Amino acid sequence: MKLIINNLTKSYGLNTVLDGINFEFESGKIYGLVGKNGVGKTTFFHCLNGMTQKNGGDALLAMDDHCAQPLSPGNVGFIESTPVLPEFLTGREFIQFLIDIQENPETFSIDGLFDLVDLSREDQEKLLKTYSHGMKNKIQFLTLFICNSPVLFLDEPLTSLDVVAASDIKKIILKMKKDHIIIFSTHILQLAADLCDDLVILHDKKLTLLDNNMLRDKNFEEKLINLLKDGEHDEICESCF
Ligand SMILES: Nc1ncnc2c1ncn2[C@@H]1O[C@H](COP(=O)(O)OP(=O)(O)OP(=O)(O)O)[C@@H](O)[C@H]1O
Ligand SMILES: [Mg+2]
Repeated sequence: MKLIINNLTKSYGLNTVLDGINFEFESGKIYGLVGKNGVGKTTFFHCLNGMTQKNGGDALLAMDDHCAQPLSPGNVGFIESTPVLPEFLTGREFIQFLIDIQENPETFSIDGLFDLVDLSREDQEKLLKTYSHGMKNKIQFLTLFICNSPVLFLDEPLTSLDVVAASDIKKIILKMKKDHIIIFSTHILQLAADLCDDLVILHDKKLTLLDNNMLRDKNFEEKLINLLKDGEHDEICESCF
């Protein structure tokens, strides 16, 4: 399965954020998306899942045995950096609702799901509006498991999770990579190095795949910081590392 992005362009007024992005992501890998604040990572996700109107270009999802189809929001599971959830429901009510609208609700165990993210029964029964950022993030992760969309965009997904939850979720992301296309943005370089098979940098309004050896390089952090600094990333290629 592949996600093929052709000439994706997005401007907010005169501010062009994404300028003719061409890229292919494939299943079986976890892609880390890095870039400085305000460079357009969230915009990139929003354009692809239809939350923001793009100015041009398209995204196609190619299943292994089928022709490529336009990527639809229904094919995308999205963890937002700022979770948006129905605050008038409890966590448990929301998850039960999501289970109930699936084709085969009987295949889900609500308690089994909550065990995955370590949320106590007492917390499950609190209104979502009272949840901390990390608790909301745990609920967002459960929506991914229930909806099981082939393409997963995770916008700084682990930043607010406690160490136990982050470690559990990391294991789950690793398990999911075989049959999903997973792209996650992060500012935590250690996390990128731990979890990612490939690292993609967003700079100068374009995506560039970094040489894979960089992830294993002991000076990874220093080299990446230099690349992200203005004017020091004219050439991102194997020779840089
Ligand atoms: N709704 C909007 N209207 C106008 N400009 C916007 C809007 N959303 C984002 N921008 C601008 O687009 C650019 C990219 O923002 P975006 O939030 O995508 O960056 P980011 O890489 O996700 O940053 P961060 O690492 O801080 O999350 C910024 O210049 C931002 O000001
Ligand atoms: Mg962002």
